[in-house]
Amino acid sequence: MSKPRPLLNTPYGAYFAREVPPPDDELVRVGPGTPCGEYLRSFWQPVAFARDLHDVPLRIRIMSEDLVIFRDKGGRVGLLQLHCAHRGTSLEYGLISERGIRCCYHGWMYDVDGRILETPGEPVTSTLKDRLCQGAYPLHEYCGLIFAYMGRPERKPVFPLYDTFDLPGLTLMPAGKFSLPCNWLQIKDNSMDPVHTSFLHAISSGYQFTEAFGALAELDWEETPYGMTYIATRRVGDLVWVRVADFMAPNVHQFTREFEDATNEKPASRPVVIRWAVPIDDTHTWNMELAQIDPAWGMTPEQIGSPGFGQSDDRAYAERQRHPADYDAQSGQREIAVHALEHLASTDRGVTMLRKIVRDGIRAVAAGSDPKELLREPRGPIATACQDRAGTAGTVMQAFFGTGTLPEFSLTTPTAPGVTHRWTRLEDYIQEPSNARIWSGIHYRFSTKVGTDMGKKVADYTVQTYLQPLK
Ligand code: FES
Ligand SMILES: [Fe+2]
Repeated sequence: MSKPRPLLNTPYGAYFAREVPPPDDELVRVGPGTPCGEYLRSFWQPVAFARDLHDVPLRIRIMSEDLVIFRDKGGRVGLLQLHCAHRGTSLEYGLISERGIRCCYHGWMYDVDGRILETPGEPVTSTLKDRLCQGAYPLHEYCGLIFAYMGRPERKPVFPLYDTFDLPGLTLMPAGKFSLPCNWLQIKDNSMDPVHTSFLHAISSGYQFTEAFGALAELDWEETPYGMTYIATRRVGDLVWVRVADFMAPNVHQFTREFEDATNEKPASRPVVIRWAVPIDDTHTWNMELAQIDPAWGMTPEQIGSPGFGQSDDRAYAERQRHPADYDAQSGQREIAVHALEHLASTDRGVTMLRKIVRDGIRAVAAGSDPKELLREPRGPIATACQDRAGTAGTVMQAFFGTGTLPEFSLTTPTAPGVTHRWTRLEDYIQEPSNARIWSGIHYRFSTKVGTDMGKKVADYTVQTYLQPLK
């Protein structure tokens, strides 16, 4: 774990801050045998989209391992080490066969599990093929995305199913695949850093999503059995907009689509993008996505598969400089972000939590046990929290109390003990979220288990807890 450098508080003081310490190797190195590499390998990882498998093999690099993936003519998918076990020719030049793949050089034929089916140049009496295998990894195909398990064979876990894989009225589709020239962890740091959605995506470089993102959010983070969530609460006009995103250890996150404008009341809106950050090596990373699509949107597979605004390097440098987005901010933190040079502030609590979850998992694997998020037994879908809600406490409360003057009532916030606010008008109280943002947590703290209207829930809670005695 890297130690932060002492604060530089000297104007024109770059001379004293020239040294760049090494990154936190425990968290960022992903090659075979590294602590983080073994941690990531203990989970199923997406390695390719089915749409990219054609009549020739696909060469890929995952966590610093060179591999080839192909679908044989019998429809089975294989993931083999790139270099042929005979004399090392790359199997990217192999011939895809009815069963397995044949090396171009001397014709050795490999099944999808790495077993050698033929060594055609050898005598028929040769037993070499029965004594040797090409390295292979097991695969699991799900919704057009092909996952590999690259950890110790005897510790293969269950493939996790999240509730967001199956949402009423929406269709799960293969979506974007795009790479960033940087380490995987800073990409995931970003997923639990909601304050950047107000600045990078709105205030600093123009509205990239909706104007609602430009409102500064009240932020909170919570650990979950599968990782953690962020809860970003914004006051948008009369409504309170709550945006919740999930991080699912070790390297998955899901977020609601960026088109929420919070102009209407909306309970638990869940069209999501589910995104894996799969290391290519220490300094390059694939983002691979599944997305929930409403058929009414009429999107083509190409549209669904293209990266969102600013996620990839598909814009000219001059434009990215003037309107930077996620690709630029994340890869701009150096190839590997140096934690010892950071000055983490109050809005970085999610980043700190995420790194702790990852570090705990790495140490669990290093100690021969499981990260707590790993599934050993099959089970139903994992309930996650990701959603948008827009609602108002005022609707229900005004119906209940009217808009007239009330007897004075007060609340003491637990976040600032000893500070008490008093109101005699309900409207003033309803405005409180835009002023103080949190009182007793009721503006945004809600159960992630219940998909009811947030506005009513907040109001009911307020009424029962604080206002009922006034009646
Ligand atoms: S190198 Fe592949 S069969 Fe000889
Ligand atoms: Fe972003």
